[in-house]
Amino acid sequence: MPRAVKFSRYGGPEVLEIHEVPRPQPGPGEVLVRVAVAPVNPGEAGIRQGVFADIWPARFPEGQGNDFAGWVAALGAGVDDFAVGDEVIGYLPRAAQADYVVSPAADLTPKPADITWESAAPLSAVGVTAWAAVDAVRPEPGETVVVSAAAGGVGSIAAQLARLRGATVIGTAGPHNADFLRSLDVVPVQYGPGLADRLRIAAPQGIDAYIDTFGQGNVDIAIALGVRPQRINTIADGRAVARYGVRSEAQEGAFSRSVVGELAALVAKGLLTVPISAVYPLEQVQEAYRQVQRRHTRGKIVLSLVAEDQRSAVADQVRSQA
Ligand SMILES: NC(=O)c1ccc[n+]([C@@H]2O[C@H](COP(=O)([O-])OP(=O)(O)OC[C@H]3O[C@@H](n4cnc5c(N)ncnc54)[C@H](OP(=O)(O)O)[C@@H]3O)[C@@H](O)[C@H]2O)c1
Repeated sequence: MPRAVKFSRYGGPEVLEIHEVPRPQPGPGEVLVRVAVAPVNPGEAGIRQGVFADIWPARFPEGQGNDFAGWVAALGAGVDDFAVGDEVIGYLPRAAQADYVVSPAADLTPKPADITWESAAPLSAVGVTAWAAVDAVRPEPGETVVVSAAAGGVGSIAAQLARLRGATVIGTAGPHNADFLRSLDVVPVQYGPGLADRLRIAAPQGIDAYIDTFGQGNVDIAIALGVRPQRINTIADGRAVARYGVRSEAQEGAFSRSVVGELAALVAKGLLTVPISAVYPLEQVQEAYRQVQRRHTRGKIVLSLVAEDQRSAVADQVRSQA
């Protein structure tokens, strides 16, 4: 039986269970996907813990996970832009961590054959979020941009995208990530007390734009350093958005096949890296969330639904059912 991650009450990672579920059927305009990899995101924990129960209540047993990559396994009526066996990247809220998902065809993006499943799957979530945040502040060549939590899932991609636009990028991180940020051509600055002073020293000419992916006072620091609100984007501080009128572009407003395709093309050309710090088998979903919720992930943690050494056999099996 196909497996799916579910939870039947609000709580910590311990409420996550692997259920056996029927294989779903694609309806008109939909595609059945056999999932190879599904990432783990810190924001998913908030929904599972019931923090957002008033606005986004769970329907138990609720699924988990948003982004995924896998093989097209069946086509619904009217779908003619994919074929069974195609490799795709997708986004399906609260459902992605499952052997099979049904997605609207329009929400799927072809995966370049030469990028890994682990690199591909996060592009529709943290990739698009980073793209939106960078696009919101429009870095120009020669400008200086700060990215907070620059070693994290969104931050590591945002920092690289800002570099690709020709900006000097300063990234905040713990000391253990300084060399990692330098490897991305990002200037590391340690977060924590005294951050504003360290940023002044790192950017004596001033800071043009600030991309906040962590919250907790980053926007206050950006404002204090003289960055204009229109050139500050936060994905983690609603209070600062209301207070200062800074921008809050994120995944929701930017997700499209063309943005995911653009990001995938950058990865295929070797211009963008999706750092992967851990790959867990689906059975270890609880441990994967325990690790991501510590909030010290470098890049991404992903779940593997098809073990690496079984992927070509599964691809052959999927294609044989065409
Ligand atoms: N609305 C949307 O579309 C959307 C989409 C994706 C994410 N988000 C939100 O965006 C935020 C970032 O998500 P993410 O997946 O990138 O998170 P993440 O990968 O879990 O972030 C981990 C990073 O945070 C850094 N960090 C830990 N403590 C810090 C501190 N005090 N100051 C600065 N950095 C610190 C860590 O660096 P060190 O290891 O060096 O400490 C680590 O690299 C989350 O709040 C998430 O919910 C929103």
